[in-house]
Amino acid sequence: MKSIQINKYGTSDVLEINDNTPDPTLRKGQLLIDVFAASINPVDLAIRSGYLAQMAPLQFPVTLGGDFAGIVKEIDVDVTNFKIGDEVYGQAIILNGGSGSFAQSLEANSRNTALKPKTASFEEAGALPLVGTCAIQALEEHIKLAKNNKILIHGGAGGIGHIAIQLAKFLGAYVTTTVNTDDIEFVKKLGVDEVIDYKTQAFETILKDYDAVFDTVGGETTNKSFGVLKNGGVLVSMLGKPDEKLAKEKNITAVGQRTKTNTEDLNRLSELVDNGKIKVSIDKVYSLDKIKEAASHQETHPRGKIVLKIRE
Ligand SMILES: NC(=O)c1ccc[n+]([C@@H]2O[C@H](COP(=O)([O-])OP(=O)(O)OC[C@H]3O[C@@H](n4cnc5c(N)ncnc54)[C@H](OP(=O)(O)O)[C@@H]3O)[C@@H](O)[C@H]2O)c1
Repeated sequence: MKSIQINKYGTSDVLEINDNTPDPTLRKGQLLIDVFAASINPVDLAIRSGYLAQMAPLQFPVTLGGDFAGIVKEIDVDVTNFKIGDEVYGQAIILNGGSGSFAQSLEANSRNTALKPKTASFEEAGALPLVGTCAIQALEEHIKLAKNNKILIHGGAGGIGHIAIQLAKFLGAYVTTTVNTDDIEFVKKLGVDEVIDYKTQAFETILKDYDAVFDTVGGETTNKSFGVLKNGGVLVSMLGKPDEKLAKEKNITAVGQRTKTNTEDLNRLSELVDNGKIKVSIDKVYSLDKIKEAASHQETHPRGKIVLKIRE
């Protein structure tokens, strides 16, 4: 089968199209899936570059990719919640015991898989697993966002951000987001109440008394966000644990989220998609053969998601 692999760490130059990748074999608790679509996340590029090599050493060759949508073709006897022919989506990244989704077939843990939203195409479903579960875990599980709460979402035009905006609006919150000038119209269409152009405005001098901040940007943005929150507010960052000293001083609950893409949250995501509450925005669809162009596009921050179409 065809897959996208690396045999060493580096830039896009190390991406290889391998037409003779052995088919994955079924292990305990796993599913074998024919992949129809996959999507790129920043973590896939971090694996390729070697950024995670010390934390998670890998044996080459490595098949890249995590997010997938496809059809179940084989099931381990211990897995009882899926059947052959089910249309599913989930995460099969090498780091969670999957075989990698930038491939015509993959092996995935059943606990990282769910039935795909019925109303979503394979491309849409393949774009959703990681960003959708990130948004659900941050807003519903950590922040417990409620009606009329005020939330600031950093990076609203990104993969996670554009889903989080829609979920926050569905939960009844007042939503402000930070984006660059070119993305203002995009996030307005998603229903935000207020937009800060981070290229020309300093959000920390404009906003105050927020109940929550969801930070998908990191760095200085995380520290500056403490000033926006009211006493007792919640800060969830996707880029590590926020400063505990600052959190204590200001009585803020600060969470460095480590997202786990599990069946339960994927089912919740399917429900939100099928009820028309969340729609993923796909910036561009590429074939597997165009992986280098797709990866470069991801690195220049698409609006929403970049998808790889793998089967018709
Ligand atoms: N902890 C976890 O479990 C976990 C899981 C998934 C992802 N992540 C991390 O979360 C981050 C976001 O992921 P993603 O998939 O949403 O990435 P993405 O699609 O690249 O989105 C990031 C967005 O942030 C924008 N941005 C950059 N600098 C900004 C600033 N100063 N203020 C406001 N917006 C800014 C970018 O747009 P422009 O640069 O074009 O303005 C882009 O739209 C990544 O770093 C990823 O590695 C963590």
